[in-house]
Amino acid sequence: MATAPNGDERQIVRIFDTTLRDGEQSPGNSMNIEEKLRVARQLEKLRVDVIEAGFPIASEGDFEAVRLIAQQIRGPQIAGFCRALDADIDRAWEALQYAGENARIHTFIATSDIHMKYKLKMEPARVLDAAVKAVRRAASYTPNVEFACEDAVRTRLPFLAEVVEAVIDAGATTVNIPDTVGYTIPFEYFSIIRYLKENVRNIDRAVISVHCHNDLGLAVANSIAAVQAGARQVECAINGIGERAGNCSLEEFVMALRTRHDILPFATNVVTEQLTPASRLLTAITGIGVQPNKAIVGANAFAHEAGIHQHGMLMDKSTYEIMTPESVGLSSSALVLGKHSGRHAFKKRLEALGHHLDEECLNRAFERFKALADLKKEVFDEDLDALVVDESRQE
Ligand code: KIV
Ligand code: ZN
Repeated sequence: MATAPNGDERQIVRIFDTTLRDGEQSPGNSMNIEEKLRVARQLEKLRVDVIEAGFPIASEGDFEAVRLIAQQIRGPQIAGFCRALDADIDRAWEALQYAGENARIHTFIATSDIHMKYKLKMEPARVLDAAVKAVRRAASYTPNVEFACEDAVRTRLPFLAEVVEAVIDAGATTVNIPDTVGYTIPFEYFSIIRYLKENVRNIDRAVISVHCHNDLGLAVANSIAAVQAGARQVECAINGIGERAGNCSLEEFVMALRTRHDILPFATNVVTEQLTPASRLLTAITGIGVQPNKAIVGANAFAHEAGIHQHGMLMDKSTYEIMTPESVGLSSSALVLGKHSGRHAFKKRLEALGHHLDEECLNRAFERFKALADLKKEVFDEDLDALVVDESRQE
């Protein structure tokens, strides 16, 4: 439990990071063993609760990465992903065993009619049987077993409940209810989690996990709704990487809980000051940057150009910032000078550069700055220095 500023006890939501599994399996994001280890070390600093290190049966390299992470990373639990197949589960354990008590097997099978019919070509009864057998086998290695009903959101609810109840009886301690194709909306997802809470006899013996994809841009909102309905583990990835439109963005979900603790009585164990370093490390490794307007870690997330906004920021930062840049690991916000900027910000920046102009000079310099800003996207400090030198020549 963490204690909220008002003294209330807030419930902890576990952060299960899948940057190195779901994230890594998406186009352009694959990493070599050394790179996966570097990201895992950063996730350790971030204090996520679980690192899903990879899919050991997928390749020799992924097996090796999971093995090394299981050997070297100490704080978080280390999960390995595997299908509901004996060979997959055995291989996952081979790599994970080095994490000792911190090892988690994450096994899954699809439960929606669409997946069972077209992909698995299996009847529901056989899927149920495979799920139970997989969990029993995983539980013979470790008591820390997570089971995922792939495409849970498009699964018939009574069947979803039947599978969840059976895998908990078989030994699953975490049940994952993924929105595999990013199809749900917050209210519907809330209802699904509530349905399971109310209709699965043994649900209180397991932690409900949610794993949302972002195909409709709703992964973070859906994860929050699921937590409000009773989920206590959220699966997410740095920079929101993952299959197709990605997974729930770790930094966005964590900062939403932190920023709105006034109405969300939950907390995570994440050291939020490590979010920006984590985002930048991942970008440096994969070469894939985030868009400038990406929440929390985008270049513009704490940048202000419009005059009215800059004026507000100079009066009090809470006018236009709902969280501090320091809280996510940035040293400060940025007041970017461009054609929308006003005199306040212009004067402040000149002063910071050591230029103290009298009122008349400042007015002239400001006019010239505006003319320049109309020609350029951004006016840099060097431009301002040149402008002031020019101004003094004209005196
Ligand atoms: O999206 C998904 O369903 C997954 C697994 C948890 C099966 O990545
Ligand atoms: Zn996924």
